[in-house]
Amino acid sequence: MSGQNKLVVGNWKMHGRRQMAGALVRDIAEGIPSGVDAALCVPFPYLEMVSGLVNGTALAVGAQDVSDCDDGAFTGEVSVGMLAEFGCRYVIVGHSERRARHQESSERVAAKAAQALRGGLVPIVCVGEQLEEREQGRTLDVISAQLAPVLALGSEALQALVVAYEPVWAIGTGLSASVAQAAEVHGAMRAALREVAGSSADGIRLLYGGSVKPETAADLFDGENIDGGLIGGASLKADDFLAICQAAI
Ligand code: G3P
Repeated sequence: MSGQNKLVVGNWKMHGRRQMAGALVRDIAEGIPSGVDAALCVPFPYLEMVSGLVNGTALAVGAQDVSDCDDGAFTGEVSVGMLAEFGCRYVIVGHSERRARHQESSERVAAKAAQALRGGLVPIVCVGEQLEEREQGRTLDVISAQLAPVLALGSEALQALVVAYEPVWAIGTGLSASVAQAAEVHGAMRAALREVAGSSADGIRLLYGGSVKPETAADLFDGENIDGGLIGGASLKADDFLAICQAAI
């Protein structure tokens, strides 16, 4: 990859309460080392508070989902314009928990990514295979199918987004993919991106997510085409998240 910083993004999922969130953000914001880009994707109700707290620090803020529609009659959805108002720089789209629980198709995920880009946010597009799919030797096919509608957004869009490979079997299980497993998928994703974006694809950041811990982060981040991490559980502890950021330098 080009010499840009690695990117480490915390995904708090549906965790936390206001007081805990405030304290955690303060601790993380004041400890971010230089030489890494870092962000926290927090639950919608905390965006305003967290944006205020990180103002003037090296920590960026993101959301965990966005509507693919413009503002309108869409009960329960949140528009990209709203996220931008609250200072979001990033938004996760297509996390496997949303693909599974909300039946989000890869086409819908790509539409959300496009909408995020239109609103000036950086989408973090998640892809990943189920354990059964890996055991059947179908990992690269699954990833390729999930990426296809995103690739169709074209070169310019691809250069403005981030892709996160999160094997579903590694999420929250304590069982991270090995560096070789992650690097194989990341290499395939880079090749697919190059087919659309040429050498510019080398600047697209590819994150790994799934049970990244302070002890495993450095090895994973050394893996070829692994440009950072998407961190779940370990982003709920300031020391762990900061140690992972340190490992990305
Ligand atoms: O989006 C991050 C994620 O799904 C990984 O979660 O808890 O395994 O780090 P965790």
